[in-house]
Amino acid sequence: MNNFKHQQQEFLPISVNVTGKKLLIVGAGKAALSKVRSLRRFNVSITVIGIKIDPAFLEIDNIHIIHKSYDPSDLDDFFMVYACTDNRHTNEIIREHCHARNILVNLADNPRLSDFISPAVYQEEDLTIAVGSNGKNVKQSIMIRENIKKNSGPDLTGYLSLEKTSLNGEKNRDRSQKPFVPKVILAGFGPGDPELMTLKTHRYLLAADIIFHDALVDSRFLEHYPARKIAVGKRCGQHHIQQVEINQLLVSAALSGKKVVRLKGGDPLIFGRAGEELQFLAENNIDVKIVPGITSAFAAAAQYGIPLTHREIGSSVAFCVGHNIAERELPQASTLVFYMGARQQCEISNILIKKGWNKNTPVALISNVSNPQSKVVISQLDQLCQHPLLQETPLLIIVGQVVKKMPEFEEIAPRTEKKKKHIFAV
Ligand SMILES: C[S@@+](CC[C@H](N)C(=O)[O-])C[C@H]1O[C@@H](n2cnc3c(N)ncnc32)[C@H](O)[C@@H]1O
Repeated sequence: MNNFKHQQQEFLPISVNVTGKKLLIVGAGKAALSKVRSLRRFNVSITVIGIKIDPAFLEIDNIHIIHKSYDPSDLDDFFMVYACTDNRHTNEIIREHCHARNILVNLADNPRLSDFISPAVYQEEDLTIAVGSNGKNVKQSIMIRENIKKNSGPDLTGYLSLEKTSLNGEKNRDRSQKPFVPKVILAGFGPGDPELMTLKTHRYLLAADIIFHDALVDSRFLEHYPARKIAVGKRCGQHHIQQVEINQLLVSAALSGKKVVRLKGGDPLIFGRAGEELQFLAENNIDVKIVPGITSAFAAAAQYGIPLTHREIGSSVAFCVGHNIAERELPQASTLVFYMGARQQCEISNILIKKGWNKNTPVALISNVSNPQSKVVISQLDQLCQHPLLQETPLLIIVGQVVKKMPEFEEIAPRTEKKKKHIFAV
């Protein structure tokens, strides 16, 4: 081994099967934190041992944190070890202990003495791109990885050409001259089924450091993204979180230099209180880029085959708030789609009839659009105060003659509930 000590280090790029393996991180400071963040997306068991534990560890799920000083017996049973203490000498001792046990070890502060190093990895499903520099130019590897990440898509050729421009330096020189501008990406997740999310939103989520998401967003699916996730929706069990607090969180995260995505269900500009967030961010000189999403009304129409407009019976469509409608002006449109009206079905019916809508106007109540548990109930305006109607949420109410054009209208009207399988809109 000693013969190799002063030679140029070479690392063989291989992909190690770590499924279910136990990984140990000794040290609980910033270096350890960054290792944990990159390892978390793998199906491994991570244990962290340290005396001074960085508070950020407490926000990370599914890791074992042991508050104690290091002892060689801690290494037993571990597949790989990361020596991440802030003491170079201690890391070298851990290395010796690992070698005595034939355990591969990485020294956070010393690639030369490490048995393995981690390249900057970009991963999307089964595609993995690893950028390494034999531990010599980590920053450059990360920069190339970030470029790939930002520009990746189903077509690899796009980002390969981009990588070339990065390597010859042109693009990067431009970037480094730009002053730091804090930024928030306001993106739509679509109605629930992740397949209905746009590729652009997906790319921003991949590149994000932090994702603030609301309750209509599938939080399990978000686990695919390495960013820290913060649920700020009213239905996320965070009833106490007020809009002003969300605004403040967005501003602080953007000012701290993080890549921030504010992710909303459906389209962010439809009943998403985006107006208030946009205004607050603008007042704090934070740039906002908006990425649209498929609003739930479009997804409902697609899933159940209801044309929202129709050449003969539906020349216009309006999206309306379902609550307090007595106090609001009703739009003059052939089709009305009510959001947030699950508990106001009777009120909607009474007011529309009072305002001159025919009591026989067909109505579709549609819950959980694009999710497997989605249901549809077909009724008519004067029946909305009767039971049993659909109370499940989230719920949309589509009112208008166009509902009759739904392929199964005759079969399921009136007031029969039917579970329906997905009809994907894409
Ligand atoms: C605060 S609004 C947000 C709307 C969202 N920005 C959009 O474009 O769909 C929430 C309301 O949207 C509707 N909604 C959102 N997702 C839905 C879904 N998957 N199924 C049915 N309704 C949904 C419901 O009316 C719910 O009360």
